[in-house]
Amino acid sequence: MTTGKRGSQRPSRRAFIGLAGAAAAGSLHPAARAQTADAIRDLGETPSDYGRPSPFEDSKRWSRAPDATASSSNTPLADLEGIVTPSGLHFERHHTGVPAIDPDTHRLTIHGLVERPLVFTMDDLVRMPSASRFHFIECSGNSAREWSPAGAPNVQMSHGLASCSEWTGVLLADLLDEVGLKAEASWIVAEGADAGLMSRSVPLERALDDVMIAYGQNGEAVRPEQGYPLRLLVPGCEGSISVKWLRRIEVAHMPSMARDETSKYTDLLPDGKARQFTLVMDAKSVITRPSGEQKLDGPGFVEIRGLAWSGRGTISRVEVSTDGGDSWVDAEIEGPRYAKAFTRFRSPWRWDGGRHVLMSRATDDTGYVQPTLAALLETRGRSTIYHNNRIKAWEVHESGEVTNAEA
Ligand code: CO
Repeated sequence: MTTGKRGSQRPSRRAFIGLAGAAAAGSLHPAARAQTADAIRDLGETPSDYGRPSPFEDSKRWSRAPDATASSSNTPLADLEGIVTPSGLHFERHHTGVPAIDPDTHRLTIHGLVERPLVFTMDDLVRMPSASRFHFIECSGNSAREWSPAGAPNVQMSHGLASCSEWTGVLLADLLDEVGLKAEASWIVAEGADAGLMSRSVPLERALDDVMIAYGQNGEAVRPEQGYPLRLLVPGCEGSISVKWLRRIEVAHMPSMARDETSKYTDLLPDGKARQFTLVMDAKSVITRPSGEQKLDGPGFVEIRGLAWSGRGTISRVEVSTDGGDSWVDAEIEGPRYAKAFTRFRSPWRWDGGRHVLMSRATDDTGYVQPTLAALLETRGRSTIYHNNRIKAWEVHESGEVTNAEA
């Protein structure tokens, strides 16, 4: 089922697939048939308490951190389908580790410039009107290596500090309504229950819009690494502001100027000034297949697949280039298209066996178009590490190998 608009530039899928279908039929090896027959003869496993991926899946590709001292791990975007990131593969970024919190004793305190300061138990929160929404979370340091043309070698390392879940919880606007805002209220300051008391300030206007207090993730309780039992969720904004293990919200008349909104998570500009409270993650896309460290099997049909997202709204268009940006075609946007969520795009291509540079370019419903690295460097300079949404390029070599392209 196609919900995307049928652009006249877009190549027809059917024209590409004919030969590929014949090739697939020819590859059904007799040994593969014998193996299937063995599996059919044996009785299978009984039901499990909690399902796990097939042992045949390559666990080396999971989101494990590079070493034991790392404070982050990346989602293996190249190996995922659709728009939802499995909860166990959501990227992780902890400033002081993952606390173990008993929901029965956990409390959320809301105080400050309010009429009635209140303390909520988890039961209080679950009892309130709930909402379920698909949203991405992206670390503002995602793609930090992409400020250099050399870039990261694969999409897990270049873009994997971004994931998308269905979040369930209470709208913060409903909670603020319960406590009653005083006239001077203009910011909220959220604090986590981790050892570092991670703290970030959110403008009240945004807090009253679509911000959630989430206790559910992809149909079950939020994972410990994602803030169990309760996290703030600020859709479309840099990940660190969606404070995990949420324990306290203070309503204030100014931001708290916490460590993670002053010395960190600010953007140093060429004139020595820093951009502060640059919260929104701008429109971005990346091709996940073919992408770095993959290898094409030989010339013929290739479905170029990828993800696009925008912190300002919905993705309205994704274009794909197979010639390093000289020409572009509209990709197909198929499946759900939610605001501030991953959006899946696909584009049929026939690889001729030659060298090609593949790129994708997203546009959101505000009309904002994903920029090149050169355009970003021109406005931000070379000292900034966050908020890199450059167009990413992969190079397909004659051998079929795919590497980062210096673009
Ligand atoms: Co920022």
